[in-house]
Amino acid sequence: MRTAAPRTARSRRFLMCPPTHFKVTYSINPWMDPAKPVDLPLALTQWEDLRDRYRALGHSVEELEPRPDLPDMVFAANGATVVQGRVLGARFAHPQRAAEADVHREWFRSHGYDEVREPEHINEGEGDFAVTDSWLLAGRGFRSSPLSHPEAQEYFGRPVIGLDLVDPRYYHLDTALCVLDGDEVMYYPGAFSPGSRAVLERLFPDALVASEEDAAALGLNAVSDGRHVLLPQAAVGLFAPLRERGFEPIGMDLGELLKGGGSVKCCTQELR
Ligand code: ARG
Repeated sequence: MRTAAPRTARSRRFLMCPPTHFKVTYSINPWMDPAKPVDLPLALTQWEDLRDRYRALGHSVEELEPRPDLPDMVFAANGATVVQGRVLGARFAHPQRAAEADVHREWFRSHGYDEVREPEHINEGEGDFAVTDSWLLAGRGFRSSPLSHPEAQEYFGRPVIGLDLVDPRYYHLDTALCVLDGDEVMYYPGAFSPGSRAVLERLFPDALVASEEDAAALGLNAVSDGRHVLLPQAAVGLFAPLRERGFEPIGMDLGELLKGGGSVKCCTQELR
């Protein structure tokens, strides 16, 4: 494959939450092992590196106030989905995270957003919703309810493509698929049901298809600004194919947050 021309970045606004109170005291996904200690100062440094990298690339980062009783709040992507200023709040599947949804909705209300919906059905924000130019891709199977899909379609007025997740290690859509630009994605087929795989092949025939190893390094849990792709540095196999497509991969080390089952994308909610 010939190397494509460099891409153009578009400046973004992100919402993040520092891992001040991050710990793994319960297990709601296969990555979480409460017996494994978390190095909190290291987690903070890794998170700050990500935040500062966004800012250095010209993006703006807003910060949510972390709460001591909500150790998973650092995974800010799960708290809401914002498209064209309309906010669909989250409703968490597990009681341990339930209160995060209110914190997010409150933040939006106090920051000038007047379209903020408290959802009827379980959805874990951008954990399971991914916005492309044409569609809202929506994961289901582990966390978000299939009923959240028509709810999101009605609220945003965008066609929703429901995708069935089948591997518990990839319990959120954003652990298995990343929107790179427009209607371009990269994904790991093994995370999806055969029918959903066929849907992805049909919609994205030129997608970057990730290997099992890169997916297992949470390499798909990445954030792209249209040019720079920030991704877990251990996903080494993704760097060359991203460059061939004209992207600039930037490896990040979020090893401590991986112990909670999240990486770059999980820590980053996009304010569209
Ligand atoms: N411990 C969190 C959970 O299991 C991790 C969430 C990761 N976030 C994400 N967007 N995939 O809910």
